[in-house]
Amino acid sequence: MAVWDIKTLWGFMLVLTGAAGVGVDYPDHVCAVKGSTVTLLCTFTPVESVTVNQRTIPIHIKRVRWCQNHRICQGNHSSVYDSQSERNDSRYKYLGDKTRNCTLQITEIQKKDEATFRFRMEANDVRGHFTDQSGVNVTVTDDTPMRITSSSGDSPMRGGENVTLYCTAACTFHQLEVTWLKDNLKLPESGTALQLSPLTAKDSGNYTCSLKTSAHHSQPFSLHVEEDEVGGSFSGLAVGVVFGVLLALFTLTLVLFIIRRKRAAVAGRDQSLVGGDLGQKHPQNICSHVLPLEEEGGTHRQETSQAVDDVSYAAIQFSRANQTGEAMEAQDAIIYTSVANRR
Ligand SMILES: *[C@@H]1O[C@H](CO)[C@@H](O)[C@H](O)[C@H]1NC(C)=O
Ligand SMILES: *[C@@H]1O[C@H](CO)[C@@H](O)[C@H](O)[C@H]1NC(C)=O
Ligand SMILES: *[C@@H]1O[C@H](CO)[C@@H](O)[C@H](O)[C@H]1NC(C)=O
Ligand SMILES: *[C@@H]1O[C@H](CO)[C@@H](O)[C@H](O)[C@H]1NC(C)=O
Repeated sequence: MAVWDIKTLWGFMLVLTGAAGVGVDYPDHVCAVKGSTVTLLCTFTPVESVTVNQRTIPIHIKRVRWCQNHRICQGNHSSVYDSQSERNDSRYKYLGDKTRNCTLQITEIQKKDEATFRFRMEANDVRGHFTDQSGVNVTVTDDTPMRITSSSGDSPMRGGENVTLYCTAACTFHQLEVTWLKDNLKLPESGTALQLSPLTAKDSGNYTCSLKTSAHHSQPFSLHVEEDEVGGSFSGLAVGVVFGVLLALFTLTLVLFIIRRKRAAVAGRDQSLVGGDLGQKHPQNICSHVLPLEEEGGTHRQETSQAVDDVSYAAIQFSRANQTGEAMEAQDAIIYTSVANRR
């Protein structure tokens, strides 16, 4: 008794769960351009089982059909596709199966295909037959406004970058040839996507697309490619950096040169206190024409400057170590102000 009850309940639940899931998932309204290929993506869920006289019968789908404008998709002449028929129109191709997928493909869609399409499943038991009456409405149009979109949106393009232009429309035009024009000259491409890579300035222009079967062109899409902008800004930056470095080096050299001469002069003055006969070729003469603080000399300037320069290279190496920090700082301060004053 208890076993019987459970069986009934189980069977009842199976029917319930099966019935709850039964149905067909149609696409939303489909719009297509005449002559194109349309795919009605569709899935279905049959009843899992039915219970007859307390016997549970599992359900298998035996026959699938698609109809135009027929409420329950029954009768011998209503279907555009019938899995049991040998005389299906080859324009209607069933891409689905008998378990879950009810996709129908219509090639070279015609005005007469403007209809409500419904799918019907027929099972091993009549209680498993089902037609979802909502269906999918298909409209067929002669023409549709075309539009061009870019893979990069409206952002400006630069030489070397890639872009793909897409010819789109509200209604599907799958398998129809597309004509691309650039500044009113025909391009060889005939697909929905126009790949431009790598871009050059020559790709700049106004692009339009249209269906080969139609005279209606899209609004022009204006593509502007900046010639090699990336390289240009990079070399501009490089020139700036090089110039800056050169300027800094030049300034540093100038300052060092002045410091060196000043120190050479100081070193020379110290030396002259020890050995007077070196005075003739002394750097202090040179120093006088850098900073006119020195009063003596001036006559040997021209002849000695070259020799003193050579000496002062060596002199700075030694005098650096000999000088006290304070003295160096004081000198630097003087030289910096004198440099600043000259500018
Ligand atoms: C149904 O079949 C079509 C055609 O083979 C396929 O494109 C689609 O992805 C399938 N749908 C599901 C839900 O598997
Ligand atoms: C399809 O069109 C009919 C009228 O032709 C309308 O009653 C129905 O609601 C439409 N169905 C869908 C799914 O749009
Ligand atoms: C552009 O596309 C080519 C292939 O067509 C690819 O090799 C290249 O990396 C792409 N360049 C950029 C910047 O996306
Ligand atoms: C593209 O069209 C715009 C106006 O829409 C026009 O100003 C421009 O000159 C055109 N470019 C070319 C290359 O024809």
